[in-house]
Amino acid sequence: MKICVTGGAGFIGSNFLHYMVETYPQDTFINLDLLTYAGNLETLKDIENKPNYSFVKGDIADREFIYDLFEKEKFDLVVNFAAESHVDRSITNPDIFVRTNIMGTQVLLDASRKTNVGRFHQVSTDEVYGDLPLERKDLFFTEDTPLHTSSPYSASKASADLLVQSYFRTFKLPVTISRCSNNYGPYHFPEKLIPLMISRALADEKLPVYGLGENVRDWLHVYDHCTAIDLIIRKGRVGEVYNIGGHNERTNLEVVKTILRELHKPETLINYVTDRAGHDLRYAIDPRKIESELGWKPVYNFDSGIRQTIQWYIENKVWWQHILSGDYQSYFDRQYMELNK
Ligand code: NAD
Ligand code: DAU
Repeated sequence: MKICVTGGAGFIGSNFLHYMVETYPQDTFINLDLLTYAGNLETLKDIENKPNYSFVKGDIADREFIYDLFEKEKFDLVVNFAAESHVDRSITNPDIFVRTNIMGTQVLLDASRKTNVGRFHQVSTDEVYGDLPLERKDLFFTEDTPLHTSSPYSASKASADLLVQSYFRTFKLPVTISRCSNNYGPYHFPEKLIPLMISRALADEKLPVYGLGENVRDWLHVYDHCTAIDLIIRKGRVGEVYNIGGHNERTNLEVVKTILRELHKPETLINYVTDRAGHDLRYAIDPRKIESELGWKPVYNFDSGIRQTIQWYIENKVWWQHILSGDYQSYFDRQYMELNK
């Protein structure tokens, strides 16, 4: 199979490529990524010379470019990770979220139709369901929970989901959608809660906790997200949505205190700051559909996953220090000099 992975230089896409390129040497993987501030080719050093992997720099919202690429490559499968993914950035600048997350997805859908792609998989998020009340621990998001978004980011992801579902119903494009809870793990960009707190705590810097730190997220190690997507693209039913989550709900304060404890750093580093506008209170996934239909099970719980992740950040300081210094953005020019001639 020839598989197009969009956004493969980002956090989850790169973890997915590491997993898939090794697991399926008979398949070919093309990583299509614009290398925005969130895309980092240093992350893919381990696989960049594998015979079944290649990289193409390009914008999913550039119709002409995408049509040419799809005509040339005739992909069997498209997995769309490419997105603007940070809620706080969507509050300061929603425009790019509309362009990439909605229009970009539509361009990919059109190109998939034109070239008869066998499966289009949309990597969506639990944020499309909005939030749950903090005091109702009995409530969970199921695949039938109505879409009810809070931020420009989640609104753009929900819009993309609706487009994907419309291309299934109207044009019979074979699609699947996965909606996962918060991920963490290696190669997570240090603007998101967990890598931000680890990198700052290691440097004895103040840790900015929004509001009272009581908002709840349902954390899943990125490896378990990747195995779930692998199962869905191979065995999932066309036209279906699958929720992904492992019942690891934690308040933000619990997460930050766990990181501090593991790093032997004092809680006095915690600094309460102004809350995020429209801040979702609680996310919690009901994963019974993917468990019972596809036999998916996570291998990490939060305790084992956060320890592995902290260790990874300690052992891979160069990776995140390059990001903090901006050095990672020149990797493309150094590595792919001949493309720029
Ligand atoms: P990320 O921000 O780390 O990576 C996004 C990647 O997309 C980057 O490599 C970036 O360069 C690329 N990209 C952005 N705009 C592009 C464009 N116009 N054309 C081509 N490439 C472009 O994001 P992530 O955290 O890895 O999330 C990946 C996907 O998973 C997103 O669709 C996100 O909505 C979804 N998701 C994320 C989480 C999470 O916790 N991070 C959870 C559930 C779902
Ligand atoms: O649920 C899936 C979503 O999880 C994905 O779709 C998004 O792409 C991903 O970014 C993530 O969104 P969140 O907004 O939940 O993640 P973030 O890491 O930005 O924040 C997690 C929680 O921590 C949230 O309640 C806000 C809080 N927070 C975040 C930051 C960056 C802080 O308290 N301080 C911070 O500095």
